[in-house]
Amino acid sequence: MANESPDLYLGCISGTSVDGLDVALLEVAAHERLLVHHAETITLPADLQANLLQLADPAQDSLDLLGQCDSTLGEFIGHALLEFLARVETPAKQITAIGSHGQTVRHRPPGPQQPSSFTTQIGDPNRIAEITGITTVADFRRRDLAAGGHGAPLAPPFHEALFSHIEGHVVVLNVGGISNISVLGSPTTGFDTGPGNCLMDSWTQRHLQQPYDENGIWAAAGEVDNSLVQTCLDDPYFASEPPKSTGREYFNLAWLEALLKTPEAAPNDVQATLCELTAACNRLAIQRWAPQTSQLIVCGGGRLNGELLRRLTAPREGCNAPQVQTSEDVGVDGDSIEAALFAWLAHRALQRLPGNEPAVTGAMGHRVLGGIYPA
Ligand SMILES: Nc1ncnc2c1ncn2[C@@H]1O[C@H](COP(=O)(O)OP(=O)(O)O)[C@@H](O)[C@H]1O
Ligand SMILES: [Mg+2]
Repeated sequence: MANESPDLYLGCISGTSVDGLDVALLEVAAHERLLVHHAETITLPADLQANLLQLADPAQDSLDLLGQCDSTLGEFIGHALLEFLARVETPAKQITAIGSHGQTVRHRPPGPQQPSSFTTQIGDPNRIAEITGITTVADFRRRDLAAGGHGAPLAPPFHEALFSHIEGHVVVLNVGGISNISVLGSPTTGFDTGPGNCLMDSWTQRHLQQPYDENGIWAAAGEVDNSLVQTCLDDPYFASEPPKSTGREYFNLAWLEALLKTPEAAPNDVQATLCELTAACNRLAIQRWAPQTSQLIVCGGGRLNGELLRRLTAPREGCNAPQVQTSEDVGVDGDSIEAALFAWLAHRALQRLPGNEPAVTGAMGHRVLGGIYPA
């Protein structure tokens, strides 16, 4: 047994923020022990990134652009993964499978306003398999939708596997473009809580021509408009019962502008307000749906926003705030988690093991997720 070669998987995802391709090399060791060996975020070519952002904008509609981006992103991922393997000195033949999430360009989960739910991720897995010669698993969300679920979030069972060693009532908060929480337990539950970085990023791009507000410094220099925070929190998404999931087709600048009663508001005050909104929607979700929480572990790019962390941690009257730590504080590299999730889901698919958690997504049952594109 000891000489058997390790069961290695590559996972990759380009998240809602479209900030890069996250890649991870995961070993599934004996007793399903999970070891992330290497992880990186690989920059997307600027023109591909611009096209993907355009596709993710609900005001746009172009089948040609969709088809082109699907192929181009699939090719980019295939080559990027081969280069990653070269950098980490691991031959492709040692990889059991790739789990590729791709890029979400539209997410329309089930709901009263959505007679026919759908979710679309692109990054052609045929091309990834062709270029790498590695079996590729992709299309992880649609089976769950077919079973009546949201197809999102998929992270909670993986968060359970990664963070089960932590004592207490643990909630894992991933602040990506959108925020989602995993309430660890049996079963682990969770849902998308609302905006993560997406509104702050869009506002920073508009006013500072920078991709994001480094460490939340710009937000920290502004003053929160509490009445605007409340107006935002009155959006029915926040009070709606889980299962629920959302995306940037919902929380975007058009959504914000419809609520901004004072268009002349100072841009950094709005940034401070958006930062507080992200913190507040998560604090409220935890108070309401996971009131026992004693430990809050923050992962995703938002954990690097000091002002957001400060706002998540700030004590509130009348409630016991959980202890807030980043994933690094508990020994888990926060940059590799999402990509490692899809490596793990590739392993689950090949083993015919379920990848979804019905208590999270609302699906009728456990399902094996993903289509398999053989080497
Ligand atoms: N140093 C930083 N300071 C503030 N925010 C950051 C920093 N680094 C990353 N971020 C935020 O994290 C986002 C990327 O987070 P990520 O978890 O990759 O999201 P997604 O999964 O949606 O791609 C960036 O767009 C940015 O908003
Ligand atoms: Mg990302």
